[in-house]
Formats: sequence, structure tokens, C-alpha cells
Amino acid sequence: MSQRVGVIGGGQLARMMIPAATNLGLEFFVLAESPDSSARLAATTVGDYTDANTVLAFARECDVITFDHEHVPAHVLAALGDAGVSIHPAPHALHFAQDKLAMRERLTELGIPQPDWARASSAADCDAFIASHGGSAVAKTPRGGYDGKGVRFISSSDEVADWLETGADILLEEAVSFRRELAQLIARRPSGESALWPVVETVQANGVCSEVIAPAPGGEGPIEEMAADIARRVANGLDVTGVLAVELFETTDERILVNELAMRPHNSGHWTIEGAVTSQFEQHLRAVLDLPLGSTALRGESIVMVNILGGPATGALADRLPQALERHPEAKVHLYGKSPRPGRKVGHVTVLADILEDAVAQARGAAGFFQD
Ligand SMILES: Nc1ncnc2c1ncn2[C@@H]1O[C@H](COP(=O)(O)OP(=O)(O)OP(=O)(O)O)[C@@H](O)[C@H]1O
Ligand SMILES: [Mg+2]
Repeated sequence: MSQRVGVIGGGQLARMMIPAATNLGLEFFVLAESPDSSARLAATTVGDYTDANTVLAFARECDVITFDHEHVPAHVLAALGDAGVSIHPAPHALHFAQDKLAMRERLTELGIPQPDWARASSAADCDAFIASHGGSAVAKTPRGGYDGKGVRFISSSDEVADWLETGADILLEEAVSFRRELAQLIARRPSGESALWPVVETVQANGVCSEVIAPAPGGEGPIEEMAADIARRVANGLDVTGVLAVELFETTDERILVNELAMRPHNSGHWTIEGAVTSQFEQHLRAVLDLPLGSTALRGESIVMVNILGGPATGALADRLPQALERHPEAKVHLYGKSPRPGRKVGHVTVLADILEDAVAQARGAAGFFQD
């Protein structure tokens, strides 16, 4: 009998797992927030992922449960665990992708290089950290942040007064002066086998990923080795199963520091769909089912992914498709079936080329047709 995979969350990550699941002959189920979710093309149950009974009923029909996002509450994960459900990544690993303070504490124990950081519960804590870090800091809510929401560059505790008022601790980090941001993706099976794609460069605009370049230009040698070593140590140390994305800073003095972790396919790996022998979506499914992992070899010299953010101000995204395809036959267009909203990730474009500048120009050109 074929294996049944259940994904909690119906976003674009679940959607992009569908072709991989189809190819491998898996049965694929999604627990989505709403009937018009991005992953609605799969067998979908609509239900509340914060309700243990709903999630348990969904999980009963599946051999393994995995995730499209990290927001499933601890009590629901515990109920799944108690019921003997196979969960990948396991709750004890996922915890460190759900809570940035817990992540910083654990990475400190593991001796992984990261920015200076502190836990703050008062205005005085914040002002002391700011004063000892040249007058600025990056403040983060430990939980629930995404796409730069929950991240503030501050120079005074006044700027996070609203967060402190809630009574929850916040994470403070030194404002890293980075040369660029990188991401290292790794997939790891429960039996321990792991596979890494080359380290990539990620570009964020207003806290949101806008472009990814694979492999990271000039990333061969020490940078590549440091990034791979960090990802292996994190994956093994936290016992991560499935795909792990490690967001990194390359500092101006050539150190590699961990920014944050995601334990699922990640925006920095969308290029693997066309750009690698095995995509991150297929590899994630293989890993959570403890199947042998696939080759991560590249299929092009330079691969560029550009996000479609926001979409057109008027009309449907799909209205722009014919013209984009006509003008850019080399571009691989992915639309997520989401309605446009300012800043929202509604699709992406990937281009493989022999010369990096060509890939950048073509991917930007094609993505541009979908935005005003
Ligand atoms: N300590 C730091 N120093 C300098 N820049 C930072 C720091 N932390 C975060 N940033 C910038 O803010 C961006 C968003 O931060 P982070 O990745 O922690 O937030 P997020 O909202 O959880 O992420 P995502 O967009 O990946 O969901 C980073 O990609 C980086 O550009
Ligand atoms: Mg991030």
C-alpha cells in the first residue's frame, strides 16, 4: 500500500509538495485553514490546527504528519505524540524553530556561531543591551514572526514598549553588519542520513525574501564548508528530520552566523524544483518517510529565483501569465493560487542560465510582469 503523508497547513509549501508526492506515488493529505488555501488542489480537510481533536482526526488517516508552517501549538503536538502519531520533524526539534529564544539558548549550548543575544523582560534589560552594543539592537518576538513581522531595529526600549507590555520576554540581538545573507538547506532522515544543497545567497527587501541565487556567488571554499558544517551540527544536535533551512549572515569580517531556523521546505530552496536533481519538496517527503535521499546536484551553472510579491494592483495574477510566458520562455513560473495583497508572496519565477547576470535579468523580467 502506498504511504500516506499528512501536511498541517495549506500554504504554498504544501502546494509545492503535491507534484513530488504525485511522482512518488504517495497519498497526500492537507489540513488547511480554509477551503481556498493554496494547497486546495490536494485532498484537503479544512480545520483548525490549534484544536487537538481536529488534528488527531486528520492524523488518524495518515502514516506520517509533517508541516507547512511552525505554528502548531505544543499542546496539539503533545496530543499527537501521546496518540503514537509519527511526526516529522518531531516536537522536541520543532520547538527550536517555534521559539527564537529557545533556539538561541540551544545553539549557544551547541557552540554554534550566532550574533550576540540576550533575553529581555524589561525596558531596563533592553536599554542595557543597546548601550553595550553601540546604541542599537534587533528586537524579535520569540514566537509567531514571519516575513519580518516581529522584527524591529531599535535604538531605545521605547520602540518595543508594546511588546514588553504583553509580559512575554523578547529576544535581543546585536545588529549584525553583514556582507550578505546566505541560506544552507539540509535534509535529514530519522535514520540519520543527510544531504545538503550548495549554500545560496538570499536577498531580503523590507524583511521579506525577494531573490535567491544558487549557488552563492564566490561561496566555494571556506564559506561553503562553514555553512555546511553549521547545518550538519544543527540538524544532528537538534535531531531535525525533514528539510532544515538555516538562515545565515556572512559578516564583513568573513564569519558565518546563524540568523534563524525553519524546519520545513523554505523560500530559499524553491530554486531546487528546476535547479537540482532532487527538489526540497521531494527531499522533504523522502526524509519524513525515512526513504533514501536523492541527489542534490545542480542542473545549471547559475540559478536565480525571484519572488512575486504583492501581485498586480488590479485584475487577477493569471491575467498576466500569457504575456510573461510569451516574453520569457526560459522562465519557470510558479503561481500559488493566492489572491494578490501588498507584500504577499503570491508566486515565484526560476531561471537557469550559464551566466549569472542573464539568469538575474530574465527572472526579474518575468516576475516583473506580475507586479505593478
Ligand atoms: N541580528 C540581526 N542583525 C541584522 N539584521 C537582522 C538581524 N536579525 C534579522 N535581521 C534582518 O531581518 C530579516 C528578518 O529577520 P528574521 O529572519 O529573524 O525574521 P522572520 O520574520 O522570522 O523571518 P522570515 O522572513 O524568514 O520568516 C533578516 O533576514 C535580516 O535581513
Ligand atoms: Mg528569516
